[in-house]
Amino acid sequence: MNKPRLYSGMQPSADSLQVGNYIGALMQWRELQQSYEAFFSVVDLHALTQPNDPAELREKTRRTAAQYIAAGIEPSKSTLYVQSHVPAHAELAWVLSTVTGFGEAGRMTQFKDKSQRYGSDATSVGLFTYPVLMAADILLYQTDIVPVGDDQKQHVELTRDLAERFNARFGTTFQVPMPVIQQDTARIYDLQNPTAKMSKSAESDAGVLWLLDDPAVSAKKIMRAVTDSDGTVRYDRENKPGVSNLLVIFAALTGRQIPAIEDEFAGRGYGDFKKALAEVVTEEFGPVRARALEMLDDPAELDRVLAVNAAKAAEVADATLADVYDKVGLLRRV
Ligand code: TYM
Repeated sequence: MNKPRLYSGMQPSADSLQVGNYIGALMQWRELQQSYEAFFSVVDLHALTQPNDPAELREKTRRTAAQYIAAGIEPSKSTLYVQSHVPAHAELAWVLSTVTGFGEAGRMTQFKDKSQRYGSDATSVGLFTYPVLMAADILLYQTDIVPVGDDQKQHVELTRDLAERFNARFGTTFQVPMPVIQQDTARIYDLQNPTAKMSKSAESDAGVLWLLDDPAVSAKKIMRAVTDSDGTVRYDRENKPGVSNLLVIFAALTGRQIPAIEDEFAGRGYGDFKKALAEVVTEEFGPVRARALEMLDDPAELDRVLAVNAAKAAEVADATLADVYDKVGLLRRV
């Protein structure tokens, strides 16, 4: 029996993943890898769209892989690899770029936001074609589902459009994937600015909870998280975005329902609630952090695991790429 396929990835764009990555994606990955044939990549080619120190990028790539494993992705069961280790990604991206409209790519909101922020001279062509490379990632593996946070939904929609267009033009080649987004945790917000998404590339560190932060540092950030003057621990996204965000994090990490948490803290102040959340965060990430750091002490072993998995990924990816090359009319090398 063939299991349905799952694909997802994260950029190695910081020394640590942040809690939004963990709650919005990794927790779903860990669960879904049991019932899907799963492929998880560290998308280092995507990370090149931001300025990087080369040695640091290599280190961040290992750190990201180590955190996947530390958080429960099993590299003997799921295929966990580094995107650039499988050349078919860049190769398929080129072919897909020839069926992507310029206007279509220009409508991607992440591109629009970033290009507005940096200005057109500092905006690379790579940033523009970023979603096409992401489509290649997904389509190479004949993926059924793509579990992501809310911010990646538009990119998965584009992937679907490209798959359908290619299939219509050249005959059925790609599985058309579905995004899977866990609605209640699809967007975790910044602790200091609870209407902005928590992000690895946030300007200020104070609102970002990092998986690899020292627990004391995370606790301090939680205690200083922006709330409101109402004083009741109650979910109300509109009027109490800070407290609502903390409730969502609390519920996601404990598996409890928000009303039960509201009841527990009824009549108690934000201080108590934040202290309890800091404990939850410490308990959840303490072991993840310890395991990740232990793996990073033996980079040769981690590199070996990544190489074995890259070979497994390449087998699937190369078959799809060969089919694509045939379909579009590239002459086969004999
Ligand atoms: P990236 O590295 O920005 O984020 C990795 C995953 O974490 C989710 N996420 C969040 N979820 C909830 N709240 C947040 N504050 C939050 N911040 C991040 C993201 O939605 C994502 O699921 N383009 C992708 C990487 C990528 C990819 C792929 C994903 C490349 N190829 C193929 C899926 C399939 C990205 O930059 O994710």
